[in-house]
Amino acid sequence: MTAPRRPGPAPALDLAALVADPQTRIIVCCGSGGVGKTTTSAALALAAAEAGRQVVVLTIDPARRLAQSLGLVELDNEPRVVETPGSPGELSAMMLDMKRTFDDVVSAHSTPERAEVIFANPFYQALSSSFAGTQEYMAMEKLGQLRASERWDLIIVDTPPSRSALDFLDAPNRMSRFLDGTMIRLLTAPARAGGRAGVRIVGAGFAIFTRIISKILGGQLLNDISAFVSALDTMFGGFRERATATYELLRQPGTSFVVVAAPEPDALREASYFVDRLSTEGMPLAGLVINRTHPPATTALSATRAEAAAEAVAEAGGKGAKLAAGALRVHAERMTLATREQRLADRFTSAHPEVKVRTVPAAAGDVHDLEGLRTMGEALLAAEDDTGTGTPRSRVLPLRPQAG
Ligand SMILES: Nc1ncnc2c1ncn2[C@@H]1O[C@H](COP(=O)(O)OP(=O)(O)O)[C@@H](O)[C@H]1O
Ligand SMILES: [Mg+2]
Repeated sequence: MTAPRRPGPAPALDLAALVADPQTRIIVCCGSGGVGKTTTSAALALAAAEAGRQVVVLTIDPARRLAQSLGLVELDNEPRVVETPGSPGELSAMMLDMKRTFDDVVSAHSTPERAEVIFANPFYQALSSSFAGTQEYMAMEKLGQLRASERWDLIIVDTPPSRSALDFLDAPNRMSRFLDGTMIRLLTAPARAGGRAGVRIVGAGFAIFTRIISKILGGQLLNDISAFVSALDTMFGGFRERATATYELLRQPGTSFVVVAAPEPDALREASYFVDRLSTEGMPLAGLVINRTHPPATTALSATRAEAAAEAVAEAGGKGAKLAAGALRVHAERMTLATREQRLADRFTSAHPEVKVRTVPAAAGDVHDLEGLRTMGEALLAAEDDTGTGTPRSRVLPLRPQAG
């Protein structure tokens, strides 16, 4: 039996260089839900301002306390400057309000009278506030607006809390396909073509189809959709064009994706899909952040040895034995956890040996204020080998465990 091939170490992700590089204009933080995308976006933005950049961070769903500490108490859908005393750059932050963004798009593309009709339409109200994909679509829309304003030299984009990281790339297209898709065209054919064209094409079957759909959805909703689509007629195609244009923005030089994952099988699998997708789309990946890792305070003592020592100490008894045995057991558990996390990271790296990695240790509590963001920013940006334990920052444990 041959031993499995040991993967080489992951290349180190240098976020300090990325953030300081004036060529970097957009950073998109992606990943599956709950891994730390919003926190990472905000921490990177603060670090960028402290490195002298004029930066804006577009957050999507900041936790309330984090939003408060960024001054985002009002949902005004526009960036606000965050006080960062002593920083040579400037940090602005905003929280995406998808309905307001959608309304602005409608206003910008129709007359005030038409806009009023659209706003009053119940289907529009549902679409703009809760349709799956609207948030992703509007995040891209907002990114396009921020970029066009030329007010910032770096835009950091958080992504919606979708289950799948891929939704950020897929949802806008899905939504524009839906909006000018076959289904809506069929449903609204009577309204759009005086009833004749649609009926002629699909014949009697269509009448039955419409009747069934009306039963399921309710006739009123169908009318709403029809009216909405007719009102939006001028914007049609516009939706798809806009989605395509922003999508292209993500492909331009100056855009970088940072994929965030937790040291967990699901999150890393998701990160893996996402990395593959970026590469097929020709979108530039900066690297992977493995967030909330648990590196041990020392790696000089292995889990097995710590476990054995705990037993020995406990057996020997005496003053302080209980405490010492307890500490040794805590260390053993931490080593086991770190070993598991490193193994998961290695599995990712053997599938994607070219992807640069940075690990960020879990903070003691939540990250909800500027101080917490600053600490996280340091963990994200610090030099690869600048650690107390000698473990490089691309890893949870050193490449070769020290004396066990
Ligand atoms: N390195 C970290 N250490 C401790 N807590 C963290 C860390 N990163 C994120 N968190 C916390 O985890 C929670 C989820 O983070 P968040 O950024 O909102 O995730 P996402 O945007 O991916 O859903 C938040 O409460 C945040 O404070
Ligand atoms: Mg989030």
